Amino acid sequence: MELHAAIEQLHDRCAIYTSAPTAARLLDLIGWTSNADLSQATLLEPCAGEGSILMEGVRRLLHSFRSNGRTPSLGDLEPRIRSFELHPGAAAIVRKLLRNLLIEEGIPPEHADQLVLKWVGERDFLLEKPERATHVAANPPYVRWKNLPAVLASLYRETLPAVGTRGDLSVAFLNKMLEWISDGGSIAALTSDRWMFAQYGDGFLQDTKSRGWTITVADERPSDPFMKTVGAYSAIVLLTPAGKPIHHLSSNRRQEAQAMLRELLARHGSLHEAGCIVRVGPALGAGRTFILDPDEIAEVEDELVRPFLDRKDLIGSAVDTARLRVVVPYDRRGVLIDPSDWPGFKTWVSKRREALSRRSQFRDKDQYWRTIDAVPALWSTGPKLLMPELSNKPFVTIDRTQAIPAHSLYAIWSGEWPTDVLQRVLNGGLLEVTAKAEAPALKHGWMRFYKRFLLRTPLPQWSQLSHDVREGLSSDDFQEFEETFKGLFGFAPGATSLA
Ligand SMILES: C[S@@+](CC[C@H](N)C(=O)[O-])C[C@H]1O[C@@H](n2cnc3c(N)ncnc32)[C@H](O)[C@@H]1O
Repeated sequence: MELHAAIEQLHDRCAIYTSAPTAARLLDLIGWTSNADLSQATLLEPCAGEGSILMEGVRRLLHSFRSNGRTPSLGDLEPRIRSFELHPGAAAIVRKLLRNLLIEEGIPPEHADQLVLKWVGERDFLLEKPERATHVAANPPYVRWKNLPAVLASLYRETLPAVGTRGDLSVAFLNKMLEWISDGGSIAALTSDRWMFAQYGDGFLQDTKSRGWTITVADERPSDPFMKTVGAYSAIVLLTPAGKPIHHLSSNRRQEAQAMLRELLARHGSLHEAGCIVRVGPALGAGRTFILDPDEIAEVEDELVRPFLDRKDLIGSAVDTARLRVVVPYDRRGVLIDPSDWPGFKTWVSKRREALSRRSQFRDKDQYWRTIDAVPALWSTGPKLLMPELSNKPFVTIDRTQAIPAHSLYAIWSGEWPTDVLQRVLNGGLLEVTAKAEAPALKHGWMRFYKRFLLRTPLPQWSQLSHDVREGLSSDDFQEFEETFKGLFGFAPGATSLA
């Protein structure tokens, strides 16, 4: 694909513009305000789009000169703004809007023409040589690297430091913005906060902190951040030099939960340290092709047909019979089969060849019949606990069917903890503490769990608990359970006091 087609495609995927109130908030957070003295400052907007942030920034700049009793010259204004837009259509629109604004604000047209050309570079910000900016406000493109047009992805990978080229493009933008910012400056970005929680953001977070930056989520769920309603969610993230006071901090509730999590972890250790194993359900690929409906008779050998559970099945405290079954090309030992040894599977799968071969991982490959992830023997051991990746109140259900769960579910093997007692303490509030402290908040109170948070859920080692505590946690008498739980964790089950 040619570069200009790639730019078109990228723009199509990421042009979700900032709403006016959110643009104003980003600028407030970094102190780019009309009553500040901006006469020596420089605002960087790295990807201007059609100018939501940039126009408000320019308006504030002009008012700031005026409120300080000055009429700015061309030379005063020129170094104050730097912005980029890769897409020629959007760059033309923003320049036109900006020119009109400048003229409305009393700037002579010939100066307005010069300023818009100087201020808006129709160029690729990621490939720019960094200059200096005192303030940065942005809504950087949120596009996963795997969805980035290949020409651009390889261009960036050749040019940019590795720490910024994982996960999604907004990390590369943040990294580049850090190269621009001068000592004492701040960056506010409207961005998916996913990179802060996902493994791929780790390198960037560590690197940024080690360079003396503090990263704060100033608002984890701004309402109506975009001009149009989109399914995506986002947060306002602030990067400031360590020690610089911040105008606005993350919500108190989040901080309370984080303090509680730290304290519980220090006292008890984590679910990981307690010996529990966490896995996400294997990705199969090709929608529901590998799933059998309850009444579907499969000619496939029994060993390759396993119980299967999805989100809908997690309604009570335990599942004793699985509604669905799944066909897997792995034997009970977790070894990948050779279909020629399994004639039933071979016939079944060959009828689905078309759907399975369409998957990008298996296109033109002999092993079109494979699931994306392996299905190791662990899945045939149980019981285990299952938990949805997305929920508005985290809970675990016991699975006694040794099912393979859907890719949107997590499984927890309880190690030395009795599975039902572990379920009780996790549902009693330990998962909720982790969720409130760590999980990215989505719309309408929903939360997204990652394996890393589950592993960091506070949990003592079963073998370290006294006989009485073990008895109390396992007791059928709810009052006895409640008292023991409270004594151990400091809050009553079901009442984390964080709601
Ligand atoms: C999410 S939009 C945000 C636009 C604007 N900042 C706003 O808040 O409304 C991202 C914009 O970045 C532009 N863009 C993407 N990659 C870019 C790059 N490497 N350099 C400059 N602009 C880029 C896209 O064309 C798109 O217009």
